[in-house]
Amino acid sequence: MCSSKRVFQLLLGLSCGLWVGIIAMANSQTAPSPSLAAAPASDGAIFYQSMCSQCHGSRGEGNEMVKAPSIAGRPAWYVERQLENFRHGRRGMKSQDIQGSLMASIAKVLLPEQMTAVAEVVAKMPFVSPAQSLALKDPDVEEGRFIFMDRCAQCHRFNGTGEMTFGSPPLIGLQDWYLLAQIGKFKSGWRGVDPADPNGTKMQQSSGYIESEQAKHDVVAFIMSLNPRPNGESTADVLFSEKEMQAAK
Ligand code: HEC
Ligand code: HEC
Repeated sequence: MCSSKRVFQLLLGLSCGLWVGIIAMANSQTAPSPSLAAAPASDGAIFYQSMCSQCHGSRGEGNEMVKAPSIAGRPAWYVERQLENFRHGRRGMKSQDIQGSLMASIAKVLLPEQMTAVAEVVAKMPFVSPAQSLALKDPDVEEGRFIFMDRCAQCHRFNGTGEMTFGSPPLIGLQDWYLLAQIGKFKSGWRGVDPADPNGTKMQQSSGYIESEQAKHDVVAFIMSLNPRPNGESTADVLFSEKEMQAAK
């Protein structure tokens, strides 16, 4: 059984036991395995380290090798909502979406109280500023800024910190390869097409505002520039005028 999953193991860098366990649990329509069910929902931190850290990192910083994004500091309402989306087949439901399907198999073995507990732990993890990867091709940050302010800021806020009342998550904190991938998934209808996912639908429609591959790279480069730098500033502080910052607030 293990060898048939070898490609995935290599891809994911997971131990054979864990991978087989996840698949076996996800494929069974019965209740979660006794070990999972026994995991104390009240201790979300232990639960996180045993069930999530292999891919999302011990500090929630993410792992490019397995295309798992940083989730440190993402708001609990968003994390819980996404776990529910994965669990109920509203995200990660297309077989071509390897990473989404993988995360969906994990969400399907979680109990509701475990999702709530782990979402609270993730939300309290200190923010991790994502490193720039080699994913962006010749980005024009100024063009990206124009697109963002014109077509994204009304929902995700001018500084990319998101807005709970709109269901729009922060975009800062996420890696560039993940942002590119998600915009692509919305555009190709792999995410945000289920009628029971109104927030996903809003973003699926908004992804149409990004008209070209280049525009996608430009806007992601601008989003990356919004991340706080070690001295607490963001590159955007330099790009925005004082007046624009006030107007956007
Ligand atoms: C085997 C690897 C793996 C494990 C274990 C795993 N994840 Fe994930 N997770 C992923 C990948 C890959 C994605 C990206 C899915 C996509 O591309 O749509 C993801 C996406 C997510 C997202 C969506 C992030 C966003 O910004 O929308 C959340 C939330 C999440 N995972 C939480 C968890 C939690 C909580 C656990 C533990 C219960 C966990 N994950 C365990 C691989 C994993
Ligand atoms: C009408 C409001 C709205 C607009 C405009 C909008 N978004 Fe979103 N966006 C959302 C919502 C709501 C979600 C959460 C979707 C979900 O729950 O799955 C989201 C999710 C996302 C995500 C996924 C984040 C993650 O953690 O997986 C990315 C990336 C994103 N938006 C980028 C953009 C960009 C870039 C633009 C501008 C071109 C934009 N959005 C415009 C509402 C909007």
